[in-house]
Amino acid sequence: MRAVRRGFGLAPRFRGPITLAGMSAGQTGPAAVELRSVSRSFGAVRAVDVIDLRLELGEIAALLGPNGAGKTTTIDMILGLGRPDRGAVSVLGMSPAAAVSRGLVGAVLQTGGLLKDLTVRETVRLTASLYAESRPVDEVLERAGITHIGGRLVGNCSGGEQQRLRFALALLPDPALMALDEPTAGMDVEGRRDFWSAIRRDAERGRTVLFATHYLEEADAYADRIILLRQGRIVADGTAAEVRSLSAGRSVRAIWPGADRATLAGLPGVRSVELRGDRVIIQTVDSDAVARFLLTSTPARDVEIVTHNLEDAFLAMTSDDGASAGQGVPEAQVA
Ligand SMILES: Nc1ncnc2c1ncn2[C@@H]1O[C@H](COP(=O)(O)OP(=O)(O)OP(=O)(O)O)[C@@H](O)[C@H]1O
Ligand SMILES: [Mg+2]
Repeated sequence: MRAVRRGFGLAPRFRGPITLAGMSAGQTGPAAVELRSVSRSFGAVRAVDVIDLRLELGEIAALLGPNGAGKTTTIDMILGLGRPDRGAVSVLGMSPAAAVSRGLVGAVLQTGGLLKDLTVRETVRLTASLYAESRPVDEVLERAGITHIGGRLVGNCSGGEQQRLRFALALLPDPALMALDEPTAGMDVEGRRDFWSAIRRDAERGRTVLFATHYLEEADAYADRIILLRQGRIVADGTAAEVRSLSAGRSVRAIWPGADRATLAGLPGVRSVELRGDRVIIQTVDSDAVARFLLTSTPARDVEIVTHNLEDAFLAMTSDDGASAGQGVPEAQVA
């Protein structure tokens, strides 16, 4: 079972270890990534606070969490760009530095210099020449979906196209593990979709992919597994459906000008009450009781019951006070 901080004291269901192709059940080879009790602080800030994580070969996993949750710090340690203060990180059974130097790890970071005056193809060719062994230029252009813009100057490429170029560069050594830190930040919906379909197509060949994102729909659509981080800790780990199910309960919404917050908060099962203008939003594990109360004992109208989605789970488990039982879903920004 993976390390989990239980947001609402619920018993989450988690996937057991994945059996790798060609292995009998119970046998485990080196993980694509393994973090054992890893912590890393910057001064007083505990950026990563005792994380245990094992990614199997071929998994596509999303690191999801709000600003400052520790996503970049985690990815940097996996790439050997930062060292844990405590605990151990291994990549494909070796140190991150060894894995990177053997071309087993590719990375797409949000920033990272591209020369604007080279074309896309020239950039790939130049980078390929730096590797002792690399995949053919045409192949990585094709896999990153940028063959058609091979002759375009990098400086004229959109942000999304530049990210796909970075992805192409990361593919050159044909890495077993691809780590991407918010690779689609700032891209429009279509750019993100194109980018992810290139990644997904490529990952079908068995590559392990770990990506950090703020976009819930991205994690939901493209990851087999979602690892939710909050303040340097893993607060949930499972499939999108499993993470969603951690946020049990529903929201009841209604129009009630001047709603009596204290009375609502005192109803059994209520986790939080939020007032937004004339609207009241109640998070509860007993939506029937709240709806009945609203309809029979108050002037509230337009009562709606809404089932939680992944976004609710995310907000409930990653916001500052949402992780303690009895708190609920406070207001927070996702992206
Ligand atoms: N080099 C550094 N020096 C000081 N503090 C740092 C440094 N790098 C990260 N931190 C702090 O560590 C915490 C985790 O940062 P990290 O960059 O890992 O978060 P993140 O989840 O990637 O956030 P974001 O979504 O904003 O990219 C933050 O509080 C951040 O301010
Ligand atoms: Mg980051």
